[in-house]
Amino acid sequence: MTLKRFRDFMEERVREFYTSEGEKFSAGGDFFTAPELDRAFGEAIADFLLPKLMEFSHPAVVELGAGRGLLARDFLKFIKERQPELFGKLTYYIYEFSKPLIERQREVLKDFPNVYWVEELPEVEGVVLSNEFFDCLPVHVVKGNRELYVSPEGEEVWLELRDERIEEFIKRMGYESLDIRIEVCLDCIRMLEKVARSLREGYHLVIDYGYISEEIEKFPEGTVIGYKKHKVEKDIYRKETMDISAQVNFSVLMEYGKDYGLETVLFDSQRNFLTSIPVFLETLESLALKEDPESVERLSRLKTMLISMGDRFKVLLQKKV
Ligand SMILES: C[S@@+](CC[C@H](N)C(=O)[O-])C[C@H]1O[C@@H](n2cnc3c(N)ncnc32)[C@H](O)[C@@H]1O
Repeated sequence: MTLKRFRDFMEERVREFYTSEGEKFSAGGDFFTAPELDRAFGEAIADFLLPKLMEFSHPAVVELGAGRGLLARDFLKFIKERQPELFGKLTYYIYEFSKPLIERQREVLKDFPNVYWVEELPEVEGVVLSNEFFDCLPVHVVKGNRELYVSPEGEEVWLELRDERIEEFIKRMGYESLDIRIEVCLDCIRMLEKVARSLREGYHLVIDYGYISEEIEKFPEGTVIGYKKHKVEKDIYRKETMDISAQVNFSVLMEYGKDYGLETVLFDSQRNFLTSIPVFLETLESLALKEDPESVERLSRLKTMLISMGDRFKVLLQKKV
């Protein structure tokens, strides 16, 4: 019987899901993300990052996992309109592993000649950003001194934990006494290292759903979840393609970031973050005064970003020092 570590199982499933054809995003797909809800999201990120990008003579943005390319489109449109001079100097790189999604991103972004697709993170001055990317990275699942494996029939099998990197992780994060499923995202740590290497100077912005160490016991069964057509799939071991993700442990990004010179400068809820950005508030206020169906619909989408997503989603900004 060939058992797979849960991490390897999850990596395969995530890759399978994103590289398969078929709609994944919005109403006809499996989930909504904030950039899919409304352009106000990408505009807010652009407004927030504008002064930071202006610190550099040749600024660049590297987006990790760009979906359909809507965040990039709204971000670039905003900068082009508000700061044409900065736009003229800006390069936007996309790091994406799904060929079908790259095709769609190329189409959506065809009017922006300053966008490039990369297989390795380039060395830049500027910002590496992502929305709902880290939750796709596979996790090891451990409980006490055992690690979770998956059988070819989709059964969970627990074997003795024999991985020093995981043991060190548990110690460093202070999770030794916890008798719950702990998700260990070594891939997140490797990605942090790549981000830090990519940034000659600049910032790392992560937006995702997640938790911090103080909240970990809220999830005794872990946070791994499967989604299909907007519904939670209880049995993630079914053979069908579905989106599998794990909430991001932001304490890990903050703690391990220090090893690579990524110092946390902001950590907050998506709601507090968005409502601190002038252009987001302006859009919210102007939509609230209108009564046409499109404005009413847009207002409700912005409220979704603030209410149902507002606390679950977190924003982390790190500065390379
Ligand atoms: C949940 S979607 C989010 C898309 C987009 N950022 C948004 O907010 O709409 C995750 C994205 O990350 C990409 N992705 C996931 N794992 C990846 C990996 N290991 N390397 C590169 N891209 C990855 C997926 O193909 C997809 O574009």
